Amino acid sequence: MSRFESLPGFRAFYPEERAKLSHILEVWRQACRRYSFREWEGPVLEPLELFTAKSGDEIVRQLFNFTDKGERLVTLRPEMTPSLARMVGARANGLPKPIRWFSIGECFRYEKQQKGRLRSFYQLNADLLGEAGPAADAEIMALCADCLLGFGLARESFAIRLSDRTLWFRVLAALGVSEELAPAVLTAVDKLERATDAELIAMIKEALAGANADPVRILSEARRLAAVRSFTDLEAALSKDEGVQARLAEWRELLSLLKNLGVADLVRVDLGIVRGLAYYTGFVFEAFDAQGDQRALAGGGRYDGLIEKLGGPALPAVGFGMGDVTVANLLEDRGLVPAYADGPDFYVAILGADARPAALSDISILRAGGMRVDYNLRDGKFPKLMQAAETAGSKFALIYGGDEIANGVVKVRDLTTRTEATIPRTDIIPALRAVLSEGFSAIQP
Ligand code: HAM
Repeated sequence: MSRFESLPGFRAFYPEERAKLSHILEVWRQACRRYSFREWEGPVLEPLELFTAKSGDEIVRQLFNFTDKGERLVTLRPEMTPSLARMVGARANGLPKPIRWFSIGECFRYEKQQKGRLRSFYQLNADLLGEAGPAADAEIMALCADCLLGFGLARESFAIRLSDRTLWFRVLAALGVSEELAPAVLTAVDKLERATDAELIAMIKEALAGANADPVRILSEARRLAAVRSFTDLEAALSKDEGVQARLAEWRELLSLLKNLGVADLVRVDLGIVRGLAYYTGFVFEAFDAQGDQRALAGGGRYDGLIEKLGGPALPAVGFGMGDVTVANLLEDRGLVPAYADGPDFYVAILGADARPAALSDISILRAGGMRVDYNLRDGKFPKLMQAAETAGSKFALIYGGDEIANGVVKVRDLTTRTEATIPRTDIIPALRAVLSEGFSAIQP
C-alpha cells in the first residue's frame, strides 16, 4: 500500500466509479430541467462566517476550515444554501420571480466516515425563491421525488417524510421557548431517536441558555409531537388556537397540491423530522429508503428568513439537497446501476508505418463526425491489436494495412462474431454510422 493514501472520507474515482457518479448527476440534471430549473454554481471556498452565522452548531462543528495565506478565515463549503442565499440576495431586484435554480457540486463536512457519510460528497440543490405559499413547497417536493424516480426506482422503494417547523415553533412557544432559542432546541429534538433521555435533557438545557422553561416537559411534549404519523393525528395533537388552525389549512392545501402533482403516495406525514440546520422556518422534509435503516437520501424545507439575514431583501425560499452517497448505495441495493460502457465506437488497428498517415487522417474525420475512436500508438501485430481492441471495450475494429490503403478500402471487423466486411474509404462516415445504428449487418455483402 502506498504511503500516499487518500484522506479518510475522500474518494478517488476510477473510470468505472466515475461513470456511476456521472449517471447520478445526469439523472438529477435531467429532472431539474424538466421542472424548468436553471443551473448555477458558487465558490467551493467561502468565508467562514457565511456558515457560522446561520447554519447552526452542528454544521459548524463539521467545517473544514482554515486560515488562508492572506489571514482570512475560510472554509470549504459544507452545503450550498448560504452561498445561494447570498447570490440571490445580491441581485434579487433584477431577477424575475419565482426563481427556479439548481446546482450540483462537491461539499465537504468533517464528519466521522461511516455508511452513507463521507467528508467529501456531491450534492444536488434545487431551490425555488420568491413564492411564500405551499405551491412552491409542493413543486420542490415533487422535484425531489422525480430526482429519485428518474433512476427507475419503484415508488415503494422510498418515502418523503413531511413535517413542519412552524408548528414545532408554536408548540415550543407555548412551553416558554422563544423563537430565537427554538432552533437550538430543535437540534436536540433532531436526536430523539439516537440519544438517551439524560443526554437529551442536557442538550435542551444548554439550548435554553438559562431561559425559564422546563426541559423535562419540553422533552415529553417533543416526544408526543414527534410520534405523529398522519394528518388526522396531527389535527388531534394540536390546540384549537387560531394560528394553529390557519397553519393546518396550509397543510391541507399542500397535501392536495401533492396529490394533484401525482406524488401524494410518496409522502408520509412524520413530525419526527425537524432538520438539523438552523435556518428552516416552515414545512421541512427528508427522503428515505423505505426499507433498510439508511441515512437520509435528501433533506430540505422552507427557509424564509435566510436571504434577509445575509444582507438581501426579504425573500421567501424553499429547497432541498440530495447527496450522491446514499443514492448510490440505494441504487446498488436495488440493482439499478447501469452497466459501465464507455469504450470507443471503433478501434483502428494500424498495421505498419506506411498505413499510419492515411489511418490518422481517417481517424480525425471520424472524430469530427462525432464517433469515439481509439487506435494503436505504436506498431503491433494483428492478434495483439485485436486483443487491444477488445480490452478497450470496442465492438468493432477498423483495419488499416498496406493492401487496404492500396485499394482505397478499410476492413471492418465485428469483434464478437469475427466476421469482416470491406468498405470504400470515401464512404467511411455513412457506412460506419449505419454500423452504429443498425449493427454490422448494415455493411455485410
Ligand atoms: P442536509 O440535510 O444537511 O441539507 O444535506 C442534504 C443531503 O446531503 C443529505 O440528505 C445527504 O444525502 C447529503 N449529505 C449531507 N452530508 C453528507 C455527508 N457527510 N456525506 C454524504 N452525504 C451527505 C442541506 O445541506 C441543505 N442545505 C439542503 C437545502 C437546500 N435546504 C434548502 N435548500
